[in-house]
Amino acid sequence: MKKIVFRIVPAAVFSLLACVLFLPRNTQAQARLNSGNKTSVPPPILLGVAWYPERWPESRWPVDLALMQKAGIHFVRVGEFAWSIMEPTEGDYRLDWLERAIDQAGRHGIYTVLGTPTAAPPAWLTQKYPTTLRVDENGKRAEHGNRQQFNWDDPKYRELARDIASHLAQRFGHNPYVIGWQIDNEYAEVSFDLHTRADFQTWSKNYYGTLDNLNARWTTSYWSQTYTNWDQIPIETKPGNPGLLLSWKRFVSDTWRSYQKNQIDAIRRYAAPRQFITTNMMGWFDGYDHYVVAKDLNLAAWDDYVGEGHLDPYKNGATDDLTRGFKRQNFWIMETQPGHVNWAPINNDLNKGEIRAMAWENIGHGADAVSYWQWRSAMNGQEEYHGTLLGADGTPVPVYSEVSQLGREFAEAGSVLAGTSPKSQVAILHTYPSFWAINWQRHNKNYDPINELLSYYRPLHDIAQSVDIVQPTVDLSQYKLVVAPGLNVLSDAAAKNLIQYVKNGGHLLLGQRSGMKTSDNALQPERQPGPLVSLLGARVAAYYALLNPVPVSGQFGTNTSQLWAEYLNHLSPDTHVLETYGKSNGWLDGNPAIVTRSVGKGSITYVGAWMDEAGMAKLAHWMTEASGVRPAFGPVPAGIDVNARYAKDHTVFVLINFDPTEQAVNLPHPMADVLHGGTVQSVSLPRYGVAILSEKN
Ligand code: GLA
Repeated sequence: MKKIVFRIVPAAVFSLLACVLFLPRNTQAQARLNSGNKTSVPPPILLGVAWYPERWPESRWPVDLALMQKAGIHFVRVGEFAWSIMEPTEGDYRLDWLERAIDQAGRHGIYTVLGTPTAAPPAWLTQKYPTTLRVDENGKRAEHGNRQQFNWDDPKYRELARDIASHLAQRFGHNPYVIGWQIDNEYAEVSFDLHTRADFQTWSKNYYGTLDNLNARWTTSYWSQTYTNWDQIPIETKPGNPGLLLSWKRFVSDTWRSYQKNQIDAIRRYAAPRQFITTNMMGWFDGYDHYVVAKDLNLAAWDDYVGEGHLDPYKNGATDDLTRGFKRQNFWIMETQPGHVNWAPINNDLNKGEIRAMAWENIGHGADAVSYWQWRSAMNGQEEYHGTLLGADGTPVPVYSEVSQLGREFAEAGSVLAGTSPKSQVAILHTYPSFWAINWQRHNKNYDPINELLSYYRPLHDIAQSVDIVQPTVDLSQYKLVVAPGLNVLSDAAAKNLIQYVKNGGHLLLGQRSGMKTSDNALQPERQPGPLVSLLGARVAAYYALLNPVPVSGQFGTNTSQLWAEYLNHLSPDTHVLETYGKSNGWLDGNPAIVTRSVGKGSITYVGAWMDEAGMAKLAHWMTEASGVRPAFGPVPAGIDVNARYAKDHTVFVLINFDPTEQAVNLPHPMADVLHGGTVQSVSLPRYGVAILSEKN
């Protein structure tokens, strides 16, 4: 289609032409949707875009929708920043335009995910009700002109948010084209106003019961912090009392949950049960405990942006696995970059083919939808430079064709992927309190708990080809191997669960800094790993932040420990040393770095060293061998990323080549080639090449 067509053909004519020309590409569900079938079910794997119809004349909508339809897009996410258009003055709700946009999209075979617009309140609202504006740590109230200026704990804001969510739900809760809801957008900014402070004090009272209890658990005798009245308790955000810091984060998490619940309740009152409710989270962002906030959602979703540089398949895959763990089910990519972003130091584009590879990697890790932000740039506003699918002239930019390829492929592979989800033999344990606790007191400025987790994730994913990331309190019985890279804050419930897991024959590996803190972020009364010392038959004698790597040797050859070193002592006769420190600071020299102990059919291992990459690979081999973990697919050349999704009767493998050169992969046995048809025994993948393979179980 030549660009000129879009400029000279009137929108309505174009739309008609587009419908006729592109209809064959519709999925069955889209066709059903077109025919007005109210019971149509969205396809199993969805492609989406963020669309902002309020920014364009309605005469333009058919052109946009026809281009979306042509690209095989199944849904638009709309509305999440449109409050000033939905309610231009207080109580004057204008939702007709939104209904027309949703209906027109539906008639083009495109479903809608409707965002509540509370991340961007209108100027009349914040002007009339100033307490709805958040206050920063220095006491400065936010002003209009940006977004996320609202106060998440303000009762008036919650009332207004409930009202707009209710109006939307009453209007669209049974709209056949609306498949789900997104609450707000990327929760992040909190408020430090006096009302919030009072709420935190009430929260503390509910949590601790008495001041004596709080004072004891926070050890407030330290630096004369003792509280004699609940209203003395401050909001602490800079490194301060660790117990207070952790309580504040718990309060923040609970407050985001109740902020969200306020809108969920409003929507659920009117919405059809088939409509899901989610919100778009931000990967490793640690502003709140995502497990807490995800509790009330039907599905978890995250916004997957690379920013500067290129896709790190391990980190991205781990972030998918993290998000899958929030509800322990498949999830959505609610936003991702079509090429480049506008907020990184250098907003380079992803390479040709990389966007498609990234989307398929998401699917391999359990995403059921991938949605691009955004369809077309607003003509003004803060994000003029962000990647889009259309240019300022309203015609496709180069990435449009790559996204269209995904549209065709999702339609092709959808039925095979339907009902499948990842299943892992290995779990990595993660908690927000542990991440926060380490970040507040890193002790070595380079000690990043995400990097620590990834140092285990990388070699484990290479071997097992599937890893879950879950909380330590979940039922662990399905896992052959459980790895806790830095379980710094170890609650009694988690400790009990881990002990039970090992006694039942599970293999547990604790990484450095594990079991140091109680659930109040206080020191455990025992040495690390605290309540697991007697099971391990050893304890951490001392920890050292390292200026330079130190040598480690033993079972895994000769390696180094980076950034951090803990040595273990008081070993039981049946606790074995796997690695020992070489000559370094004198204290570490010759002392155990990694120890392990068999417990019935299970085992517990403690790794006190932050092993270098080569050492970590050997450690991963040892632990997977010892626990009987088998690769989901089988051996593949380096650079080939493998992920598996399972249904009762078949398994789907997603293979992607992230190596710069073409790679040939021999399959363990013949499989169906989902994208190209037929049965194959091997596949050859160029850089960013993707193969979707299916086999009967
Ligand atoms: C976030 C927001 C979007 C947009 C993108 C740009 O993910 O949710 O509204 O600002 O960033 O990358």
